[in-house]
Amino acid sequence: MLVPVAKRGDLRKDGHQTDQRHLLQFRITEARLRPYPGIPLMSQSVALASTSVVTVPRFQASKGKQKLAVLTAYDFLTAGLLDQAGVDAILVGDTVGMVVQGKKSTLPVTLDEMIYHGEIVARATRRALVIVDLPFLTYHVSPQQAIANAGRVLKETGASAVKLEGGVLQAHTIRALTESDIPVMAHVGLRPQAIHMIGSMSKVQRDRERLLDDAKAAQEAGAFAIVLELIPRDIASEITATLRIPTIGIGAGPDCDGQVLVSSDMLGMTGEFNPKFLKKYAQLGAEIQRAAAAYVQEVKGGQFPGPEHSH
Ligand code: KIV
Repeated sequence: MLVPVAKRGDLRKDGHQTDQRHLLQFRITEARLRPYPGIPLMSQSVALASTSVVTVPRFQASKGKQKLAVLTAYDFLTAGLLDQAGVDAILVGDTVGMVVQGKKSTLPVTLDEMIYHGEIVARATRRALVIVDLPFLTYHVSPQQAIANAGRVLKETGASAVKLEGGVLQAHTIRALTESDIPVMAHVGLRPQAIHMIGSMSKVQRDRERLLDDAKAAQEAGAFAIVLELIPRDIASEITATLRIPTIGIGAGPDCDGQVLVSSDMLGMTGEFNPKFLKKYAQLGAEIQRAAAAYVQEVKGGQFPGPEHSH
């Protein structure tokens, strides 16, 4: 459904005059709903093969039928673009701490920050499943703490599911959440929230027994899907063949049921970050710098604004 573009001074439904912020919001929303030329419409893409909203059961049921494409987003414009491009799910990851806030790890991210970004992303998303990360120490204390915090995420953001890190050790929490009707995506392998225990974000996790136990425990506790981060291809392949729920890999090889990447990494905005598993589908960092430098030059040289930009 296209949202009509309001003109300044138009009356909104509640009788107030449209202010600048609402005008901008209407314009952005309308523009976002018009796909960019050359980008496949979601109805033409293979992502869950239709324009229907991706629910948790649909996402889960795609195992063995279609690969799942997941990307992260933290803001309105990016979420809208990814949704239009046909991603199956948008993860509001706690990588927001590193990518958006410039922190060294995900540990400082707060629940309120995740809710702030989650609400923005869910509001921009029409079709994809929106999943919000539970940040460090917002689910570790007790299952009750996890229910209260994950419940806030669902109530205050409009997202459909939460993600948490852990398998065997978080199984009781995953069960408590799913029994409270809060869908959970689990995350095993490299767990960025355990950085101080692991020592390095780039350490491939190779303990086959442990990885299999974690993945099975998450599934048996009720997780609807599971992220496998930085584990060898053969182990990811075995876990994928063993589980009934979809595995979503990042640095876990091609045999997973789906893949997830951090958008700013795959868009080429994170400079020298070049792990083996990452493919850069664009070079937006260089393009933004080129455009900004051209703007600076034209403003200083008096070429911008030209007559065509002046009233
Ligand atoms: O926080 C995040 O963005 C993630 C993905 C890297 C899977 O957990």
